[in-house]
Amino acid sequence: MTTLYTGISSLVTNNPELESGLLGELEGAAFIEQDGQIVWVGSANDAPAADVKINLEGKSVIPGFVDSHAHLVFAGDRSQEFEARMSGTEYSAAGIMTTVNATRQATDEELDENIATRAIEMYRSGITTFETKSGYGLTVEDELRSLKLAVQHTEDVTFMGAHVVPEEFKNDKAAYVSLVIGEMLEACAPYARWIDVFCDEGAFDYDESKAILEAGIAQGLLPRIHANQLAQGRGVELAVELGCASADHCTHLSSKDIELLASSNTVATLLPGAEFSTRAEYPDARRLWDAGVTVALATDCNPGSSYTTSMPFCIAVAVRDMHFTPEQALWSATMGGAKALQREDVGMLAVGKSADFLILDAPSFRHLAYRPGVDLIQETVISGTSI
Ligand code: NIG
Ligand code: FE
Repeated sequence: MTTLYTGISSLVTNNPELESGLLGELEGAAFIEQDGQIVWVGSANDAPAADVKINLEGKSVIPGFVDSHAHLVFAGDRSQEFEARMSGTEYSAAGIMTTVNATRQATDEELDENIATRAIEMYRSGITTFETKSGYGLTVEDELRSLKLAVQHTEDVTFMGAHVVPEEFKNDKAAYVSLVIGEMLEACAPYARWIDVFCDEGAFDYDESKAILEAGIAQGLLPRIHANQLAQGRGVELAVELGCASADHCTHLSSKDIELLASSNTVATLLPGAEFSTRAEYPDARRLWDAGVTVALATDCNPGSSYTTSMPFCIAVAVRDMHFTPEQALWSATMGGAKALQREDVGMLAVGKSADFLILDAPSFRHLAYRPGVDLIQETVISGTSI
């Protein structure tokens, strides 16, 4: 069955071949979906016949958001920690153990229910593809069950046994690193596509992170990294050295880091929710963009540093506080995310791509930043099906 969408005030395709400009934005456009894929895009005047015709009466359409960074497998709540932080307490990696303790105590059913609830929030906020990580189990058994649950919800699952060193290993970090790259990795690798490590102050250093990522690569996992969130360390350098798909956070970057990213295929994934919720200084997205770095925007949804599932919120903050234009922010939340996940099938509204798109209750995508906090996602469509 073919479905033709018309009456679109502004259609973002992310296909610069169709229309000049970063977003390939078309006016008076239409597109056809069939069996979950986009099969035709063009001017409404040239649209071929279709089985079903839907007139959107002046609404705008954009590709679905691709959230390349989230931590959805967890239990518990850290609202008190957030409250304390808003009164001046600093964020540190140590808070992660609060969630680890709650996650270890939760049943599989509770964890699964939590993932599903956050996933529904994501769909409502326009996210049509998301990645999620383990990292709140930190035992072989708890990391493994985290991943087994995660794969039920998304194909982009990341093993992150190296989130922090759990309390029981606090006097023997080397033993924990050995566990992660040994027994834990062996058990977890079959359930993950990616491996990630928190390379930062209070977590893992350059050498430990390198050993962990290399062990993952040897097991067939693709590397990505949490880098330069809390301090200006060597995380970005390692990301580029190992060819990580993405270096995430990038809150504290040196000029050298920016040069390295610009001359590599590593995407810099910015997480505005994290700076917002930890009251950190925002990185300058525009500076990265102008230097030639490929940038993605993601939610980093997790109970500690960024408890949001809203990509429109991230876009608004990236425009307001990271100096992105609305165009750059939208590209980064769609194509940028797809590049960070090395996905060719999503991020674009073009022939042959998955029919993942959003109908906005607004005349154009610019309203996502212009009307912060307003729910403009009228409909989220994934593989041609309205969610
Ligand atoms: O991406 N930076 C490390 N991990 C998470 C935070 C985890 C937590 O505080 O629970 C992040 O921000
Ligand atoms: Fe994260």
